[in-house]
Amino acid sequence: MHSLKELEERIKECRKCRLWKSRKNPVAGEGSEKARIMFVGEAPGKNEDEQGRPFVGKAGQFLNKTLNENGIERSSVYITNVVKCRPPNNRDPLPDEINACSPYLEMQIEIIKPEIIVALGRFASYFILSLYGFKPRPISEIHGKIFSSPINGIKIIPMYHPAACIYNPALKNVFRKEIAMLAKL
Ligand code: URA
Ligand code: SF4
Repeated sequence: MHSLKELEERIKECRKCRLWKSRKNPVAGEGSEKARIMFVGEAPGKNEDEQGRPFVGKAGQFLNKTLNENGIERSSVYITNVVKCRPPNNRDPLPDEINACSPYLEMQIEIIKPEIIVALGRFASYFILSLYGFKPRPISEIHGKIFSSPINGIKIIPMYHPAACIYNPALKNVFRKEIAMLAKL
């Protein structure tokens, strides 16, 4: 099995889908190799593409703040995305891009072996739930629910995407409550 570092190197060189052409920097992910919690977003945005780091723009600032408020150190978790390169103009990732890129995420899960995966937003929830044999449902129906994998006991918690929360105070409060629940777990 590869190490996280080796995987990062491979992602830096990756040209498996069209997104390599328009990216500035691939965003492999960052955090602790021993993380008990893994956060999975959709794909890098503008700031992430410029810095090569996940969740460093506005959505990331809201995520960091919410983690801090609940006593979770960002450096103690692992943060990544389903797709590692920014789609042009932040369009939705396409199915063939998700297929090409998702083996990296699966390898990251295999290496880190988190107890809990928090799937941020629709794309990550759909992907992670399908991966563990759950039937994906709309994020509005499943956010904050805990799905335990019958295969390996890993817990999957879908949550609203922090970017969706920024412009919607109601979602912001839901997100805060669910991160507080996560902190108790
Ligand atoms: N949105 C995402 O889904 N991922 C990031 O890394 C940043 C914003
Ligand atoms: Fe490779 Fe993923 Fe980037 Fe596509 S999005 S080029 S598969 S790292």
